[in-house]
Amino acid sequence: MCGIVGYIGTKQAYPILIKGLKRLEYRGYDSAGVALISNNRHLNVYKAKGKVSDLESFAAEKDISGTVGIAHTRWATHGEPSQANAHPHYSSSENLALIHNGIIENYAILKEKLQSKGYVFKSSTDTEVLVQLIDYIMVTNKLDLLSAVQLALQEVIGAYAIAVLEKNNPDQIIAARKSSSLVVGIGEEELFLASDATPIVEYTDKVVYLDDEEIAIIRRGEELKVVNFKNVEINPEIKEVKLNLGQLEKRGFSHFMLKEIFEQPDCIYDCMRGRINVDADNVVLSAVIDYKEKLLGARRFIIVACGTSWHAALIGKHLIESFCRIPVEVEYASEFRYRDPVIDEQDVVIAISQSGETTDTLAAIELARSRGAFIYGICNSVGSSIPRATHTGSYIHVGPEIGVASTKAFTGQVTVLAMLALTLAKEKQSLPREEFLEIVKELSHIPEKMKKVLELNHRIAGLSQIFTYAHNFIYLGRGYSYPVALEGALKLKEISYIHAEGYPAAEMKHGPIALIDAEMPVVVIATHNGLYKKVLSNIQEIKARQGRVIALVTEGDDVISSIADYCIELPATLECLDPLITTVPLQMLAYHIAVCKGKDVDQPRNLAKSVTVE
Ligand code: AGP
Ligand code: GLU
Repeated sequence: MCGIVGYIGTKQAYPILIKGLKRLEYRGYDSAGVALISNNRHLNVYKAKGKVSDLESFAAEKDISGTVGIAHTRWATHGEPSQANAHPHYSSSENLALIHNGIIENYAILKEKLQSKGYVFKSSTDTEVLVQLIDYIMVTNKLDLLSAVQLALQEVIGAYAIAVLEKNNPDQIIAARKSSSLVVGIGEEELFLASDATPIVEYTDKVVYLDDEEIAIIRRGEELKVVNFKNVEINPEIKEVKLNLGQLEKRGFSHFMLKEIFEQPDCIYDCMRGRINVDADNVVLSAVIDYKEKLLGARRFIIVACGTSWHAALIGKHLIESFCRIPVEVEYASEFRYRDPVIDEQDVVIAISQSGETTDTLAAIELARSRGAFIYGICNSVGSSIPRATHTGSYIHVGPEIGVASTKAFTGQVTVLAMLALTLAKEKQSLPREEFLEIVKELSHIPEKMKKVLELNHRIAGLSQIFTYAHNFIYLGRGYSYPVALEGALKLKEISYIHAEGYPAAEMKHGPIALIDAEMPVVVIATHNGLYKKVLSNIQEIKARQGRVIALVTEGDDVISSIADYCIELPATLECLDPLITTVPLQMLAYHIAVCKGKDVDQPRNLAKSVTVE
């Protein structure tokens, strides 16, 4: 969950490390730290609770010289956010400093063993155990750092990306991974290390993605060397990354989240580029065509995902079932992986993930693969672990998403799912031609309709001020709009810390209706679709109990506008594509409420962008 950065080369490391940490801060932000081998060969470690800017203030008066260093921004799993628990962690001898992303599951047993050998611990993290273990193996077996890391990692159970600096051997960084991503950047006379490519692209477009159980030996003036835990050398495959620096900046928006909400029309256009043809009479997702026998021969699809991606999966279920008549189940990856599910080679698993690094989703993929299922990935982050663990898949191509609350990735996922369902439906001939053409054409118009929705930003900002008093919100929708209600509620919870629940509108009378009173804001997705009249009745039920209704309606609807307290009018679209329109005002509503409440929108408390722990 954390961010890792490393540098060795001819430049001063500290500014590069700090800039890199800021680019990665979305991955974890409860504390930060840096280790540098100074010009006079000291191994200096500086750490601070809070954000990277707190670390900068702390280190301002310190010796920050040195051309080699490692840095970390933490998302605590073991031990509260504090200076002592921040990374890097020294070994007792202060010869080593280590940063770690992930969890060492058997840390307690290892800690006891090391304490019995006289090691003293200064933090409550699992990470400190690893640095002490490496130190212990080095000292007792008189080994070099690389060999000690190899042996230590064979004793460790868990998930990790690590980087280690050694005072007595100042011209190298040793880095290793298992289930957590690590990328090495190859520059001129310099090498970079990071959790993902975002801190690296500014300096080089040549990267090597490490695989599980690989160790990178990053030495000054030498080419990158990669070995596995058994010391077998691996030929590193150098790839080119195409990341535009502008995508990593706020470009005048007050938050990344707002920028990403506003990017959606362009993102959806990019997502469809080359997949929907100019005359909008065809859609081709190449991975679907390449594997059409496998996909069409499947007994059923199972979609695994977490959080917002799981909400996109629920929409995918509707799309695939209704366009292709293939049964689809949607599972939380975290439940699926431990449920001993009935699954075999007749099943197709679709894994959806923005980051491509979510541990639960990766574990669900591994389980499904081991049972013979065919795996299709839908990811945003190019080159991340999930695309590499799947048989095939489609990128959503919406560019880096930095705001912790997912926005453009969700609409990108839904767009890919719609294209997947349409491509399959065409192959299977399960949709009448006219209907197919109508949907494809409408999909191609979604970006312009999203632009019209974005024009409502000012009005939604005004509306948000009315609701900052609320401690609870209910979101209701039916059919395709039910997952949108869940997503709207999640957005509000994540960034404003207001409790919010999403429900299928008709379920309200089975319980949640008890919560309705004059204080309760109820957001209802009530656009024109097959269930419009039913939703209208649900609104009446809420009004009969004095609830405050904020309704999303289709432009020109004067029935609901006469009943609801507030209406947000949206451009009409097809029911199956409605989530691409209705999600956007809910993102804006959550955003503005959080801003009104003075919350840290891009980095909400307790969350992290890629959840690489269980
Ligand atoms: C979204 O706003 C969340 N922060 C979170 O639910 C996220 O969608 C979830 O952790 C899954 O992440 P992924 O798409 O990167 O796998
Ligand atoms: N488990 C480690 C800790 O709690 C690493 C957490 C992280 O990935 O930031 O310190």
